[in-house]
Order: sequence, then structure tokens, then C-alpha cells
Amino acid sequence: MATIAAAAANLSAASRLNTRGFFKPLSSIFNSSRFRHSSTNIRALSAIATVGTKSGTDLNENEIKANSQLLACPICHDMLIWNGDPVFSVDATPKSILNCTTCKKAYTSNETHLDLTLTSGSKKYSEYVPASSELFRSPVVSFLYERGWRQAFSIWGGFPGPEKEFEMMKDYLKPAIGGSIIDASCASGLFSRLFAKSGQFSLVVALDFSESMLKQCYDFIKQEDNISQENLILVRADIARLPFASNSIDAVHAGAALHCWPSPSAGVAEISRILRPGGVFVATTYVVDGPYSFIPFLSPLRQNIGQISGSHIFLSDRELKDLCSTCGLVDYTCVRNRRFVMISARKPN
Ligand SMILES: C[S@@+](CC[C@H](N)C(=O)[O-])C[C@H]1O[C@@H](n2cnc3c(N)ncnc32)[C@H](O)[C@@H]1O
Repeated sequence: MATIAAAAANLSAASRLNTRGFFKPLSSIFNSSRFRHSSTNIRALSAIATVGTKSGTDLNENEIKANSQLLACPICHDMLIWNGDPVFSVDATPKSILNCTTCKKAYTSNETHLDLTLTSGSKKYSEYVPASSELFRSPVVSFLYERGWRQAFSIWGGFPGPEKEFEMMKDYLKPAIGGSIIDASCASGLFSRLFAKSGQFSLVVALDFSESMLKQCYDFIKQEDNISQENLILVRADIARLPFASNSIDAVHAGAALHCWPSPSAGVAEISRILRPGGVFVATTYVVDGPYSFIPFLSPLRQNIGQISGSHIFLSDRELKDLCSTCGLVDYTCVRNRRFVMISARKPN
């Protein structure tokens, strides 16, 4: 079933490509002396393809079908039957119930998002959540995230900022144009909104584990006039148990998130599972190297920090390359700016 869904998704993505140029050259960013470019293999792209902005109502039947076949039960990875409006949209999802064709579990939603976590619907059972994930479930942190918190990453980490990061990643995302993109660990949706506004994707999924971040993401989407509410959905899910069919998604973006995941390898392995062959993974995080490499016992120290905080500190970009390749991804590239790193890799064809 998943293979059929992937084939339909790929076919529909391909059928949506046209030849109008979209992406600006990245040379201005990459040539900047602030960026140390350690790419081993940035893919050469022979044709620049793009799609015009399409509203959901312009989507053809195949495209609607392809989108509906992407969601899968996080328990058994089988298809979810959707009782709602056939066109995915911010407004349609909250009124929907999804039923797993195999384990029969029903997944519901609140006003803002679909809950596709394993524990969705549980009444008594609750689980320990590591501090790095729990922190972002706080409504205060969710409120502050785009009101100063994210901006601080530029000061201490060298993060270029959402608009520049979006420009930087466009080149990597070219093979996914016209297809589906998941903004994994989207927080308040700063990149999900940019993906949706670009009109370049048949489906944008804003995904996070934090309910309050998704609520904030929903509020921001509703406040902006120029975001199409169609082909955009908000999903609560755990990165280590993604509710998507295997080999089905064209691109996954994870901004400033890898270090927050309880297990980066479990997250990247799941991303690798759901990407279609040739699908792209783009992520940003930070690396503590350079002068910090000389701190004695840094490696065991990060083990202890990790155990307390639930977050992961990367000590070199080689670690990130290793992480991607052990999870089945190839053609790793990376761009550095101080502690900031943007990586890309893809699933082999
Ligand atoms: C620092 S924020 C990154 C937000 C945004 N992508 C950006 O570029 O600024 C990290 C996000 O990871 C999310 N997160 C933490 N644990 C997660 C998990 N297990 N599954 C999915 N998301 C998780 C948090 O809720 C938080 O919104």
C-alpha cells in the first residue's frame, strides 16, 4: 500500500513541474567569507523546475489522492482513512478523524492540529518526556519563541536567521519542488509559513511534538493574509515515530532541532524511512568544535549534559555526516557559520 502511495505521490509531483525559474542563485550567500563551505557533494541540478501557486481547489484528483495516502498510522505504518474534506487544509484537519486500516485506532484532533502521536487519545497513561522536549511544550516558551528566543540563536550560535536560512536551503530543496515537505519540529511554524507562502509544494506539514507550539503556529498562520490555508496541515507527532508512509515524502526540513531530539539517530532513521528514493533531508543545528574541542573531557561531559537535559551536543560536523550515513542517507553536504551548521543529505535512488 505504501509503495502505491509513494508511486502516486512521485507521479503527481513530477506532473506538477514546469520550467519557470524560482530559486535565486545562492552564490551571494555561499561566497560570503562568513561561510566555510565544506560540502563534499552539492548536487548539480540540470534543470530548474517549479510550480505556480495552486490553491487546493485547483488540485486534480490524483494530487488529492496522493496527499491523502501520505499519512500513516504511527503504530503500524499502514494507511489512515480520512473522513474529512478530501483537500487537506488548516481548517479541514481539526474537524477530522483518521482511522487506521489495520490496527483500527482512531486519531482525532483539536481546533489546531491532528494528534498523530502514539499516545493520542490515551486517558490515563502518561509518559516521561525528556527536558529538551518538555521545555518547548511550555506555553510561555512557545509564545517567546519568535519573540526573541529564536533571534538569540544568531548571537550565540551564528544562525543566519530564518529568511537567510530559507534562501540557503532552496538549492537543496529543488528536487522536492511540486512535492510534499515536512517541517519537522516546526515550533511556531516560522519555516512552515515560508514553505507555504512559496507556493512550491503540493503539501506542507508543520509537525511538532509540542501542543502549545502548534497552537502558536496555528495563530500565526491565521494572522497572515498571504498564506494559503490549503495544502497545509498541522500535525503533532514524535520525530522517532513519524505518521507517514514509507518512501512517500519528497523533503524533510528540521531547523534547529536535531540537538533537541531525545535520540537524533531515531529521528534521522524515521526521516530516512519516510523519504521517497531521491528525497531530501535538510537540517540545521549547532556544533561545538574549534576552540571548544580543547575542553578536557568534553565528550564524557556531553554524555552527562545529555542525560540531564535530554538534548544532544554535536562535537564535529563529521558526527552529523556519520549520523546521516548510518541512517541510510547519502550525498551529505554541510555549510558552516561559527557554531551554526546546515546539512543536507538524500535517500538513495
Ligand atoms: C529549537 S526548536 C526549533 C524550531 C524551528 N524549527 C526553528 O528552526 O527555529 C526545537 C523544536 O523541537 C521540538 N521537539 C522536541 N522533541 C521533539 C520530538 N520528540 N519530536 C518532534 N519534535 C520535537 C520542540 O517541540 C521544538 O519546537
